[in-house]
Amino acid sequence: MHPRLTVVDHPLAARHLAVLRDRSTPSPTFRAVLSDVSMLLLYEALRDLRVDDTTVETPLEPAPARRLADDIVVVAIMRAGLGMVDGALRLVPEARVGHLGVYRDEEALRPVNYYESLPPGLGGSEVVVVDPMLATGGSAVHALDVVKRSGPARVRLVCLVAAPEGLEALAKAHPDVPVTVAAVDDHLDERGYIRPGLGDAGDRLFGTTED
Ligand code: PRP
Ligand code: URA
Repeated sequence: MHPRLTVVDHPLAARHLAVLRDRSTPSPTFRAVLSDVSMLLLYEALRDLRVDDTTVETPLEPAPARRLADDIVVVAIMRAGLGMVDGALRLVPEARVGHLGVYRDEEALRPVNYYESLPPGLGGSEVVVVDPMLATGGSAVHALDVVKRSGPARVRLVCLVAAPEGLEALAKAHPDVPVTVAAVDDHLDERGYIRPGLGDAGDRLFGTTED
């Protein structure tokens, strides 16, 4: 599997995942629920964020408090990762957002890079790469390669559903990167779909499914 894998075992995440897996869930609901479950996944994935001690003035007296110590950057693997950005920003409103355009060549199942836009100055940043689906792992491995080249302090990956094959690929290429998921599914089929999975996440998110 992966040495730094966390599977979020929570009834609310499981309830959201059931809605997302359901083929009858329409795009507007899919979008809303993906955003909500992303908050739960990031809440868990960001548990070890660094904090600074500070003080705030309550209406009565000063109180000890903590604030986030580091710049947080969310990097979405397009298209489907876009569906997790809103949830991430509800959790960390001050986060900056980067975008990596990657699609899978349907025949070779290899990632094809078509867009790269990362915020400048990632030197001391905490980067969270988001994509609901980890199938062969090609897209995530590529995205983590790109992000690591910009020299962030720490990088982590948050996905909704992972295939064992994708986790193996990640373990080989990026064993140091913590990975948080809601579920590890059974296998990849011959077309590279996660089984049982939830189908094509990008198509379901943006209503571009053919049937
Ligand atoms: C999906 C998904 C991941 C990728 C996972 O994107 O959102 O980015 O496939 O597959 P992999 O682990 O085998 O690389 P897709 O290529 O369908 O592009 P889209 O989100 O634009 O539809
Ligand atoms: N991408 C998806 O959106 N779904 C899969 O099952 C595999 C890759």
